Amino acid sequence: MTGALLVSTKPATMEVWRRELLALDPALDIRLFPETGPVEDITAAVTWNHPPEDLYRYPNLRLLISMGAGVDHLFRPPGPPPGVAVVRLVDRLLTAAMSEYVLLAVLRHHRQAELYRAQQKARIWHELPAPDTENTRIGILGMGTLGSDAARKLAALRFKVAGWSRTPKRLDGIESFVGDAEMMKFLSRTDILVCLLPLTPSTRGILNARTFAALPRGAYVINVARGGHLVEADLLAALDSGHLSGATLDVFEIEPLPGEHPFWGHPKVIVTPHAASITIPRSVAGQVVENLRRLAAGEELLNRVDVTVGY
Ligand code: NAP
Ligand code: GLV
Repeated sequence: MTGALLVSTKPATMEVWRRELLALDPALDIRLFPETGPVEDITAAVTWNHPPEDLYRYPNLRLLISMGAGVDHLFRPPGPPPGVAVVRLVDRLLTAAMSEYVLLAVLRHHRQAELYRAQQKARIWHELPAPDTENTRIGILGMGTLGSDAARKLAALRFKVAGWSRTPKRLDGIESFVGDAEMMKFLSRTDILVCLLPLTPSTRGILNARTFAALPRGAYVINVARGGHLVEADLLAALDSGHLSGATLDVFEIEPLPGEHPFWGHPKVIVTPHAASITIPRSVAGQVVENLRRLAAGEELLNRVDVTVGY
């Protein structure tokens, strides 16, 4: 790599990133934000929730690397500086962890785990109706790296799985729905809705009153993508009216979720602190170093983001 790499995230995590990157390439010149040194030195940056306007201070910046699968943090106004390439992480462990979380949320709902737990607390021996897996329809919004892996694993458990994306997908045993024209048809056949879309101008607020109304009564919602996908008041209304049976939420418009937020104590909502799938620096350092090498060599970058669509 020519020039220096800026690393920016929580202070304790930055040290881990430095260690893992140097273990693979001891020659790297790494600067931990805000100790950047001369701004002209920085040619690449690997960041998470970095102040977007700060990235305009580095005149020689050529590559922005997201520390996660999502890149919406890089597209917050004013967005990435013009002409700077953007890449994201695609990682075996990140994908596997997300599928684990989605399977856990689906199965906890499907197997009535909360109800059995409540019965145990009350010392009640009562068999609930057996779940009908082959007739439970799961719909996944977003059939990219994460959505398609979760879809395959759910289909292997014999759920009826469908996915919704911008372009058609051909995956064994998984129905594909495409674009706005097929959205309502997709929702009307979905008992458990999982959101794994990137947050872009076209997907912001997609989990709203209209979407919920199109789901069958009793449907369940799992949002593991971004808080900006969900219109929180619409979810609360659909839960409180009884149209939706519950929700598992890992991501929120405001994170950390404020202490007074109604989701915390809602009997139909399960909250986790944006922990569905956490990047493990050791697992992804290799692709970061490889992209720095490719940048220097003028080669095609791995996991490049289309800045015109924002994912
Ligand atoms: P990805 O590979 O880029 O896949 C995105 C999928 O969404 C693609 O199938 C894409 O369709 C579809 N899509 C995008 N815009 C659409 C639109 N307007 N209409 C219909 N479909 C649309 O992304 P990924 O790696 O699977 O990650 C998905 C998201 O998960 C990330 O962006 C991030 O926000 C979230 N995430 C959350 C956590 C967590 O811990 N909670 C962890 C990691 C990631 P095409 O295939 O047709 O392009
Ligand atoms: C986490 O939210 C990610 O985008 O990797």
